[in-house]
Formats: sequence, C-alpha cells, structure tokens
Amino acid sequence: MLKGKKILIGITAGIAAYKIPFLIRLLIKEGAEVKVVMTAEACNFVTPLTLSALSQNPVSIEPFSPADGSWHSHIELGSWADAFVIAPLTANTMAKMATGITDNLLLATYLAARCPVFYAPSMDVDMYHHKTTQLNISALQSHGNILIAPHAGELASGLTGMGRLEEPQKIVEILQNYFSKQLSLSGKYILISSGPTIEPIDPVRYISNYSSGRMGNALALEAASRGAYVTFVSGPVNEYPSHPSIKIVKVNSAAEMYASCTELFAKADVCIMAAAVADYTPQNPEAEKIKKKEDSFHINLVKTKDILSELGKTKNNKQLLIGFALETNNEINNAIAKLHTKNLDFIVLNSLKDEGSGFGFVTNKISIIGKDQKINNFELKTKTEVAADLFDFIQKEIV
Ligand code: CTP
Repeated sequence: MLKGKKILIGITAGIAAYKIPFLIRLLIKEGAEVKVVMTAEACNFVTPLTLSALSQNPVSIEPFSPADGSWHSHIELGSWADAFVIAPLTANTMAKMATGITDNLLLATYLAARCPVFYAPSMDVDMYHHKTTQLNISALQSHGNILIAPHAGELASGLTGMGRLEEPQKIVEILQNYFSKQLSLSGKYILISSGPTIEPIDPVRYISNYSSGRMGNALALEAASRGAYVTFVSGPVNEYPSHPSIKIVKVNSAAEMYASCTELFAKADVCIMAAAVADYTPQNPEAEKIKKKEDSFHINLVKTKDILSELGKTKNNKQLLIGFALETNNEINNAIAKLHTKNLDFIVLNSLKDEGSGFGFVTNKISIIGKDQKINNFELKTKTEVAADLFDFIQKEIV
C-alpha cells in the first residue's frame, strides 16, 4: 500500500523523537520514499545524520544553508510529499501551526503543504490536557489535518497519563489505511448536518445546547478525504471543516436547518444528521429586548419540525439515512425506537454516561445499530477515528 508513496516526516523537539528512526525504517521496508524536515531544537533529540542515513535523503532543517549557500524550499517539500507526518509534535509547534506562525522551515512547509497532514502530539500529561492544547488539537483537526492521537502510559517525566507518541508500527498502519481508503467514496454526494441550533427568545437571547460540532467536522473531513462531495449544514460553531470538497451552509435555527436539509436531501446518496437540533423553539420571539419585571417568567415553546423524520418519509431505496442519538438512560431502546420511527438505515448511539463521550470532547464512544437491530459497539476513540469507523460501515451498504 505504501510502495512508491512519498512520505515527508516532520520532527519537533520532543523526547519521543527517538522513535522516528524506527518509523523511517518501517516506511522504507514498505517501499515508501522518505524525506525529513526537522526543527533545529529537534536535533538535540535525534541526529540529522541518523535520519539521513536511514531515509537515504538529505535532512532539511533551515531554509538556507550558510555552508554552501543553498536554499531549501518549503514549497518543494510540501508539493513533493503524498503525506506529511509531523511526529512527535510538541505543544509549542502545535500552537504555531494552529495560528499560522512560520518561524522555521518545518512550519513554512506545513503551511504550504498540499498533501494530507498527519499530526501526532506528544507531551507531558498536564500539557496535553491543558485547555489551550486541546483547543489547538481541535483547531488543527478542523483545518483538515488528521490526528494521530497519543495514548496513555509512562512518560519521560516519570508521570503516567496521556501523551505518549503512537508506536511507529501503528503510524505505518494509519498511513496504509489512509491510502487504501482514498477515493473510495469518489463521486458520492454526502449531506451532513452538524452543530447546535439556536432558537431566539429576543434580539439578545436564545435557547441552544452544548454541541461543539466536532463530531460533524470529523465526519465531513473523513467523507471528503475518501473522495466524496460534501455539503455541510451547520449551526453556529467555533470551527468549521476546511477542504476543497466541503461546501458549508451556515444556519442558525432548527427551522433554517430544516429548510436547507430538506432542499438538499434529494441529491444526496448519504445523509448523516449529526446536528443537535432544538426540539422546541419560542413561539413568539420578541422584537425588542425583554425587560425584567416579575419574579418568575414563562416562555411559550412550540415543537420544531423533526428534520430526520421528514427526510425518512421522502427517502428512496438508494439513499442511506443515518441519525445520531445522544442518550442519558435506556440508551439502546431509545436509539432503536428512533431508528424505526424516523425510517433510518443506521443510528449512531452515544451515551453521556460514557466518560470522554459526547459534547465538547475530542473523543467519542459509539454503537452503530442497523435495521436488523444488531448492535456494533466501538471503543472510546478520537472523533476522527469514530468518523472512519462510521464510513467503513456506510461503505459496505452504499449502492
Ligand atoms: N433531529 C432532527 N430534527 C429534530 C430533532 C432531532 O433531525 N427536530 C435528529 C438529530 O439530528 C439526530 C436524531 O434526530 O440525528 C435524534 O435526535 P435526538 O435529539 O437524540 O432525539 P429526538 O428525536 O429529538 O428525541 P428526544 O430529544 O426526545 O430524545
């Protein structure tokens, strides 16, 4: 699968850089061509000589070599590669990637790269769990990069927890997997809804929910990376997925999402409703700001239209319709009931009882239930991996 593939490896200054020579050997064994770009600080952890000997290519560090006056072009490296794997990725370089800082060759190469970029954060447990790091991880994900999640274990600091770089063999498998799936959804049109909806109470207030849209972003990017053409109908979120094959339609309320989804559904081969749509909306939103007067206050809410149910009524037998069910109790029965009443092909269940699952996390733990009511349980995974599991499922059914 990796024979003839050009893999560019980016190394930053993390202790796990010692694993990269093993990664290069494995890639070369698989028939890949490997080049390395690294930061100057990373040279303290693994030598350019070792990397150059193993990759059989010169290693790029600075944009300019004072010794011979030669120029190393970031454009050249980025357009040479079929995949750019940045491993290990420190919190520092990740923050720079998320904000577009290009103060070294590796960062300039990242910003100019046209190929898929895989990033493997590796750091101490507390740095990994810091809110800023988590925000940067999801920013990079929503910019279309593919997360190679760290795993838990003993760390160089002596602490135990999340932050260990994925093993080289596993990184090779992730790349093999990526190249084998590429373009498997070519020519398919996929409609995905995502994020929360907001239901206005007056010009300054609304009713909404905690959906971050991360699961929807991961689904859109996974579908696009498999060659599908994606229309992404999203409520207001902080990060939208970015990919040339993803068209974004921004909506606010459940009514707007209903109008967009029902209009776009006829063209879709697959529709995934991952949005957290409000079930009720204020009956008469006020035109002016509501002033505080009484001790208690009532808003009359009316039911919104159920978008999935509506799509389920018009669905033809070539289309696949998939819903999500976020439950807190009686999960399986509730999900199966939704599968049948909304005329779905699959329902993806996530329970708020599972730690690390649901709104706001970068991870999710799902079960996929089909019409035959067979329950397929998955481990807790990153939302990118969950999206890949769901599309593996979908691909077996797509006509
Ligand atoms: N959904 C929808 N339109 C709505 C409400 C929900 O299309 N007005 C979709 C969601 O996008 C999701 C699925 O229906 O794919 C299930 O949503 P969920 O909120 O779990 O269930 P509800 O049907 O709203 O029922 P309840 O809130 O009572 O659990």
